[in-house]
Amino acid sequence: MSLVLHRPKKRKTYYSLLAVVICFVLVFIVASINLAILKARTEVVAEKTKHVERRKHRERTEKLFTYKLVKNEIQNIYARFVGPCGDDHVLPTSLQKKGIFDFNALVETNLRILFVGDSVAVQLSQIFQESSSPKDRHVIRFARGEHESTHVALTHQGGRISGLRVNGLPCENDVDDLELMAPLRGGGFSSYDVHELRRLNYLWRDNIESLDRDEKRQSYDCHDIWQQLNSTNTALRLALPNMDADKCREEGFDVIVNTLSPGWIDLRRYDSQWQLMKENLNETIRLSFDVFDAETVVLQTIPVMNNLKNIPDVKELNTYIWELAKDFNKSNENIISYFRDGRRKFKRILVMDMYAFSIHLFLQNSIQVGLISVEHRDKIQQKLNAATSYNDFIEESQVLDFIMKNTTTECFDKRKTICKKVGHVCLDSNCTIPSAITSDGIHYCTGITGGRMNAGLACLIECRYSSKGSGIQYLDKCMFDCNKRYLSIEPIDWDT
Ligand SMILES: *[C@@H]1O[C@H](CO)[C@@H](O)[C@H](O)[C@H]1NC(C)=O
Ligand SMILES: *[C@@H]1O[C@H](CO)[C@@H](O)[C@H](O)[C@H]1NC(C)=O
Ligand SMILES: *[C@@H]1O[C@H](CO)[C@@H](O)[C@H](O)[C@H]1NC(C)=O
Ligand SMILES: *[C@@H]1O[C@H](CO)[C@@H](O)[C@H](O)[C@H]1NC(C)=O
Ligand SMILES: *[C@@H]1O[C@H](CO)[C@@H](O)[C@H](O)[C@H]1NC(C)=O
Repeated sequence: MSLVLHRPKKRKTYYSLLAVVICFVLVFIVASINLAILKARTEVVAEKTKHVERRKHRERTEKLFTYKLVKNEIQNIYARFVGPCGDDHVLPTSLQKKGIFDFNALVETNLRILFVGDSVAVQLSQIFQESSSPKDRHVIRFARGEHESTHVALTHQGGRISGLRVNGLPCENDVDDLELMAPLRGGGFSSYDVHELRRLNYLWRDNIESLDRDEKRQSYDCHDIWQQLNSTNTALRLALPNMDADKCREEGFDVIVNTLSPGWIDLRRYDSQWQLMKENLNETIRLSFDVFDAETVVLQTIPVMNNLKNIPDVKELNTYIWELAKDFNKSNENIISYFRDGRRKFKRILVMDMYAFSIHLFLQNSIQVGLISVEHRDKIQQKLNAATSYNDFIEESQVLDFIMKNTTTECFDKRKTICKKVGHVCLDSNCTIPSAITSDGIHYCTGITGGRMNAGLACLIECRYSSKGSGIQYLDKCMFDCNKRYLSIEPIDWDT
């Protein structure tokens, strides 16, 4: 009875229960679907953010540097003034062969690379920029007329290749001293330019207004940096700012290439100037690593050029450069320091042997002029090629000193001891044909020899950022091989 009585009630309960359950199920399903959608959305957003972050991170930590050899077609697009030696400049016949000056390096990189030095350094940065066929480029400052002082190019992979013209070795105390700034001699440069280069390293901007040599800057869109620039303390003027706003943030350099070319030296104080270069080198290296925030410094050895009296004079400084690099590496082998953004950095110095390069060219040119006998020539060439260390090479090259003394009538000091060298600037003993190894005895004919120098530098930088090895021994060998292969006249089989 009770069963009967209860049945309808139970059924009613049953139905309402069922309804409730169905409701719940529906709600659950709808909620689940919504949740799933929401979750999916969140995941997509999270994944996107992660992806962006990862990409940003990769851009910062995975350093890309590769190059390949291509036909040499350096147009001197940016190096318009001294690089494009006219058709009257001719190469010695021995250097017109296949594989010597017919190739260039095509560079791909996301690194921040800065060339520091005189107008020769500017030439080298301009042809390196050209070989990355940049996406965009700014001139921050001109030195004189259209001659560039500070300039920067953006590569297609997000890298920067820049140049900062400093006639002499850059020193912190000489910052913003107009009397010491290019085109004059002295080691001066502008702190404003350093901030601009580092800002552009972090974030590329359009519409940079180029300044002339004497212009400081009337106003500046980053107030804190502007205050820094107003400081009387040079170290503070140059320091990396503490800045969170993206537009005012700065990033240092991965690689700094220092040209220590003494084209700027005061010839009246010739001997003391060599000593000064040696003394200032420590300061230049400290600036490169700590103020410009680099991890790799490339020092170029001093080449044969107008302002050399003789070969023994450069022997001391070039030996000093090699030794300094070796000692520096050894003492920094196990020391990790940090970039301002927290990335680890291993400080290393590489040496680009411009001296060896110039000696090979000088020898070939002197042979063509007829300054050296055939037997003598073959013996010297053989010994230079067989050198297995920088010391060997420097020693073997001393015999060329007698050719250095064969000069033209164009001299730069009263005593006429520092003059243009026939074997360097002329292709014949009467000097009626200029040689294509230099435009004026200091600058290179970059359209001709630039490709090989680009390849030499690219090869060195690649040693540092290659996945093939990172130990000091690997890098040492890699550096030796790059210098020997490219900063020489060894024919390169690039076309196969
Ligand atoms: C920096 O100095 C210039 C002129 O010397 C002045 O006009 C400017 O207001 C100063 N800026 C700051 C932030 O102090
Ligand atoms: C340069 O620095 C090295 C190592 O820090 C030091 O041994 C050397 O004496 C310094 N040279 C000069 C000329 O100051
Ligand atoms: C330079 O070399 C030429 C050719 O060998 C020679 O005739 C001339 O005397 C040399 N001049 C000097 C200053 O050594
Ligand atoms: C150099 O000039 C002298 C005198 O003008 C001439 O006799 C000689 O043939 C010239 N030498 C060369 C290599 O052109
Ligand atoms: C310095 O160390 C770097 C990196 O370890 C290496 O490539 C280079 O050969 C060393 N340079 C010298 C002069 O020993």
